[in-house]
Amino acid sequence: MATKLSVAFPFPLERSSKPFQRISVLALPQLNPCHGFCFSKRNSGFRGLSVNALKEEVIQSANSETTLHSQTTLPTSSKLVLVIGASGGVGQLVVASLLNRNIKSRLLLRDPEKATTLFGNQDEEKLQVFEGDTRNPADLDPSIFEGVTHVICCTGTTAFPSKRWDGDNTPERVDWEGVRNLVSALPSSLKRVVLVSSVGVTKFNELPWSIMNLFGVLKYKKKGEDFLRKSGLPFTIIRAGRLTDGPYTSYDLNTLLKATAGQRRAVLIGQGDKLVGEVSRLVVAEACIQALEIEFTEGKIYEINSVEGEGPGTDPEKWQELFKTAQA
Ligand SMILES: NC(=O)c1ccc[n+]([C@@H]2O[C@H](COP(=O)([O-])OP(=O)(O)OC[C@H]3O[C@@H](n4cnc5c(N)ncnc54)[C@H](OP(=O)(O)O)[C@@H]3O)[C@@H](O)[C@H]2O)c1
Repeated sequence: MATKLSVAFPFPLERSSKPFQRISVLALPQLNPCHGFCFSKRNSGFRGLSVNALKEEVIQSANSETTLHSQTTLPTSSKLVLVIGASGGVGQLVVASLLNRNIKSRLLLRDPEKATTLFGNQDEEKLQVFEGDTRNPADLDPSIFEGVTHVICCTGTTAFPSKRWDGDNTPERVDWEGVRNLVSALPSSLKRVVLVSSVGVTKFNELPWSIMNLFGVLKYKKKGEDFLRKSGLPFTIIRAGRLTDGPYTSYDLNTLLKATAGQRRAVLIGQGDKLVGEVSRLVVAEACIQALEIEFTEGKIYEINSVEGEGPGTDPEKWQELFKTAQA
């Protein structure tokens, strides 16, 4: 049952515990700590988290580093982006970045309390949270999608049995059934649906991918991709390489805004499932947000890696060029 509240993969054979590096954030969102999230069925009693300190921590430097933003305050966007998997490594960076861009977000979370921990107590005009589990079609009530213009789905679980499989939250249930349920529930009016998937999904029977796929994660991700591809919805699929940096779970917005891609800022985008390397979670989050605006990425599947070097940061023109080059 969907409850409107206002806030892995897979491959976590190895979780990075790299410390944060400082970043370039020139302007922060107009955060309003006085208002709560928007609830409908269950008020989970979010704690109000002060975000005033956030402004004092702004770091005055500008470079091409991919961070959670480096622009002056933007006018509120007309977009309403639904993020699923917002408590995850990539998802929380997506949300923090949307907040920082003054883009309205709506989150679907199994545990809405996580939203407060991660993003503070935001104005419900900017951030709304619904409670729901993608495995349960009944949780995907049409009210969740009302007014939503774009969707970014970064759900996942571990590739191998772990505590995160508790309650049958396996790759089959999350990456296949969950994605299928979500896609089936989405309205056709959407302008774009971005799905985060994985490199190697087309080669899950081949070594070394077959090892990663021992419990079906790549196969089920591909099934999820295929379902979206055939849905008739305007989609973009971003297949990530092995994720680095974060996840920043259990931190807060202040900390999220300090996340950087470190040295791994240069972005490689490919097509045809040929890339095999690593990618910073921050780069994946940025790619998802940029793809929403780049018309020609509709109906396309891209693989993404990041390597040492200067990157596109948040520059839309540089991202457009990267996506274009991948298609060439
Ligand atoms: N790790 C890698 O190296 C790697 C490589 C390639 C691709 N990927 C893919 O990239 C994406 C992002 O990875 P990540 O490491 O950032 O993810 P993550 O930290 O594992 O986060 C997964 C997110 O999915 C949510 N989720 C899990 N089961 C759900 C369910 N049944 N219903 C609703 N939400 C559910 C989790 O919510 P809860 O907080 O409720 O658990 C969490 O927000 C995933 O699709 C992942 O498979 C990962």
